[in-house]
Amino acid sequence: MINEKLFDIAKQVAKNAYAPYSNFRVGAALLTDSGNIYKGCNVENASYGLSMCAERNAIFNMVSNGEQKISEIAIYVDSEKLFQPCGACRQVLAEFGQDIAIYYGNDDKIVETSLKEILPHTFRLNEPR
Ligand code: THU
Repeated sequence: MINEKLFDIAKQVAKNAYAPYSNFRVGAALLTDSGNIYKGCNVENASYGLSMCAERNAIFNMVSNGEQKISEIAIYVDSEKLFQPCGACRQVLAEFGQDIAIYYGNDDKIVETSLKEILPHTFRLNEPR
């Protein structure tokens, strides 16, 4: 079931995106097993390769606050087209949960999927805690 509240938070945080180069504003909000919510937006740089995705900023924010288990993540993109999380963010998500529900969308539509579905045959050295 789509977590609309989590998606609304992702949409709010996209307003903070620093995306002067791509104009692609992304917001992510994740829910941990303990029920806390962590947020992130994309942050770009004049040296383009240093830019960071919204999803990974939300994950790093969670870890920095002492948590390591994700149950759901919502991702909003300010675009008419729908986008799923990039490959790098899928791999970083896999470190912190096996069974993560993913809601991605824009102003018109929200789609539900799961990490299992969009990153099968995952490379892991440790089982997620
Ligand atoms: N971006 C994200 O924040 N998440 C993704 O999953 C894909 C891409 C950002 C990175 C960059 O700031 C902009 O979108 C264009 O790639």
